[in-house]
Amino acid sequence: MRKPFVAGNWKMNTDGNSSVSLAKAIACGSSNIVGRSVSVAVFPPFNYLTSVFKALNKSNIALGAQDFYFEPDGAFTGEISVAMLKDVGCNYALCGHSERRHVIGETDELINKKVDAAISGGILPILCVGELLDERKASQTNKVITRQIKKGLAGLNAEKISAVTIAYEPVWAIGTGLTATPQQAQDAHKLIRNLLAEIYEARLSEEIRILYGGSVKPENTAELMQQQDVDGVLVGGASLKADSFLSIIQAAV
Ligand code: PGA
Repeated sequence: MRKPFVAGNWKMNTDGNSSVSLAKAIACGSSNIVGRSVSVAVFPPFNYLTSVFKALNKSNIALGAQDFYFEPDGAFTGEISVAMLKDVGCNYALCGHSERRHVIGETDELINKKVDAAISGGILPILCVGELLDERKASQTNKVITRQIKKGLAGLNAEKISAVTIAYEPVWAIGTGLTATPQQAQDAHKLIRNLLAEIYEARLSEEIRILYGGSVKPENTAELMQQQDVDGVLVGGASLKADSFLSIIQAAV
């Protein structure tokens, strides 16, 4: 019912040439399945969005941004608006990635404004949530996820929420080589789906895709995807090589 979704977050990596060749290789290697059996999106750095959009031309791979600012325009030096993202061909944007929360210092309140601004401006947000290692050790995982989901989606009505994808990314698993076990991922995803059912309604909660992220590799994708509430993966490091990203796409179908 929920089509698998594979998203590649390139973070602050690639350059002008490698971003284009990576996009072309992914488009070429996945043309037989993307769109029909799996949704795929890539999230390059801002300055390569236009060239990657051109490189993805005629493929069914969607373009996304790693961040943006919630205001529509004005004196916000260094920031990028939702309309600017649309203008260069983006359909998706990440909101509240753990590196934005924990390195840059974004709050739940700011992330909530971004989610709302994205939807209002016609961009599909991927709201990222996940606990720190200390929080997991202190049995705070459910509390942290609940807070991030409730605050991140505050004020959004049912119509708006249907544009949202959620990504559960335990911070201790991001870029560390440590992946959550399939059961840990399933438990967190189930909690999120139950929260969505509680805030909205069961039918809507069944439609929303929940991705897992954190050291996803070709070898662990199929097992994660077998979990009932894991609908896709958000991939960092392994999305920077066409071969490994293509293997993940194959394994997710
Ligand atoms: P990783 O990153 O796959 O390199 O762990 C995932 C992410 O940050 O989205």
